[in-house]
Amino acid sequence: MKQVEKMKVLRNEKIARSIFEIELEGNLVQHMSGPGQFVHLKVTDGMDPTLRRPVSVCRYERKKSTFTMLYRAEGKGTQLLSRKTAEDTVDVLGPLGTGFPTDGLKPGSRCLLAGGGIGVPPLYELARQLKAGGHHVTTVLGFRSKEDVFYEEAFREFGDVYVTTEDGTHGAKGFVTDAIDRHVPVWDRYYACGPRPMLRALETKLGTGGWLSLEERMGCGIGACLACVCDEKNGPGYRKVCTDGPVFPAGEVVV
Ligand code: FES
Repeated sequence: MKQVEKMKVLRNEKIARSIFEIELEGNLVQHMSGPGQFVHLKVTDGMDPTLRRPVSVCRYERKKSTFTMLYRAEGKGTQLLSRKTAEDTVDVLGPLGTGFPTDGLKPGSRCLLAGGGIGVPPLYELARQLKAGGHHVTTVLGFRSKEDVFYEEAFREFGDVYVTTEDGTHGAKGFVTDAIDRHVPVWDRYYACGPRPMLRALETKLGTGGWLSLEERMGCGIGACLACVCDEKNGPGYRKVCTDGPVFPAGEVVV
């Protein structure tokens, strides 16, 4: 059940180039139902900036009523957010969207997680839940350059991690698809989140049998404005990323 809440900031820190990690506390966490959901943030009480910003949930702790998000401070709203400090509040609408399914896996399944840039964070809670469920997690993370890399060590807690950078300044030079070729010959299910070209390349390489989380500009976040629609792959219809997604089975929508 979604709600709007002024959540308390516990900490807000820069962890990579333009990337911040913020932890919030509030009742809304009790309604989070799985990895891959997102929240819609309003940073100021005034009219500017008026639109909320969608940010994915990186991890949540129901017992403590806290959750963590990572965001890139690039627009006006997210730059304002980066200046929030402990005890400030953030207006949060959520939790929203349909996340990554973790059911239907045989015990001990091999799960491949592929993330690019600011698409990496929702895979963290997913990795945590898969590992807790007794599955094997292999994570492949892609970034532009060394300064952009985050959470490499955090994911090692769950299994093997391979990092690529486009310029080769950290990990292997290339893309997540190159690392998968080299290191992950077999998997039972894959999950991915990142920029569209990365998702397209993964879908072409790995086919169905996976789940893709789409990053999309949003308006309302609750299915009313159609700002976030994407086309169905095998039909004339469309799907709303904010309510039907952001996670879709590979092959269902045009990425
Ligand atoms: Fe308004 Fe999806 S953001 S319908």
